[in-house]
Amino acid sequence: MFLDTDFIPPKYTQTVEKGNFKWTAPSNIALVKYWGKKENQIPANPSVSFTLNNCKTITKLAFAKKEDSLNFSFDLLFEGQSKEDFKPKINKFFERVAHYLPFLKDYHFTIDTENTFPHSSGIASSASGMAALAMNLMSVERQLYPAMTDEYFYQKASFLARLGSGSACRSVKGQVVAWGNQANITGSSDLFGVEFPYVIHDNFKNYQDTILLVDKGEKQVSSTVGHDLMHDHPYASTRFAQAHDNLDKLITIFESGDLDAFIKVVESEALTLHAMMMTSMPYFILMKPNTLEIINAIWKFRNETKVPVCFTLDAGANVHVLYPKNVSEKVLQFIQDELVGYCQNGQYICDEIGNGANQL
Ligand code: DP6
Repeated sequence: MFLDTDFIPPKYTQTVEKGNFKWTAPSNIALVKYWGKKENQIPANPSVSFTLNNCKTITKLAFAKKEDSLNFSFDLLFEGQSKEDFKPKINKFFERVAHYLPFLKDYHFTIDTENTFPHSSGIASSASGMAALAMNLMSVERQLYPAMTDEYFYQKASFLARLGSGSACRSVKGQVVAWGNQANITGSSDLFGVEFPYVIHDNFKNYQDTILLVDKGEKQVSSTVGHDLMHDHPYASTRFAQAHDNLDKLITIFESGDLDAFIKVVESEALTLHAMMMTSMPYFILMKPNTLEIINAIWKFRNETKVPVCFTLDAGANVHVLYPKNVSEKVLQFIQDELVGYCQNGQYICDEIGNGANQL
């Protein structure tokens, strides 16, 4: 079992004056949802996600030794422009990880970041953004301590990303990533995401995710607030137990390739997530009328055609349409014919399972 203290590094063996790195990290889509957390970004239940391929953040990190080591010092650029309003979030992240990255106050950093997906598309960039930043910081640490193993590098990157945003720990490495202690997943941890360690049937190879952009507006309730409302939530303990059950079911489903069973788990998870929001106090709704129109249209299409397409939702109104590669043509035609009209400005993004972060 890993402890927080495993991520406090040994004394660095090298000194480095300056340098720069560039990493991309993808977004991910949860199949079993993380909703509710304890102190220090420990999830209330385990979750599992598909790593995406096209929706990603690209982050360049330049660093240079500074005179003193009193404070954090960094500039933040988003698409080449200084972005003051992102700074508090990064500052908070630095505070959370400083204990594990003792070099942080020794350098001035320039963080230059951009996303491949339209900004304000309602796609959460916190997962890909925090993962990309964590990868860069681990590259710095590896220069200071070259003896570090690859395993430690990726594990700690996920650990750090989690402290930035929980779901970000699932955007580091692997196509299917589990996060949170689960008795039946060897090596699983509340502290970092792990590549799903068991057999995955060919049915899930190249799985497709077409993201329908239903509403690009600011969310009325942030994920942070939503997670918080799971404390004292009347259904919390049942929900957390259900997440464990659903993850166990997925272990079997990934092996057998049973798409009907997959669809049941995934759609139930999506609706349960939103049911938790609707039954919080205060209660809230993030789905929009068009979210429901799309869900109903998918159900009708699936019933009529038997094409194994399903949906999931994250903490917003957008719909992720999930389907195997071999039915892409039919599903994309269906999206064009029947779903595009429900998207804001007809916008959607075609994505698929990917492998995680990459150094550029
Ligand atoms: C609905 O990871 O954004 O997407 O840890 O507070 O940053 P913080 O929350 P965040 O929550 C994601 C919630 C979700 C489900 C999921 O990705 O598992």
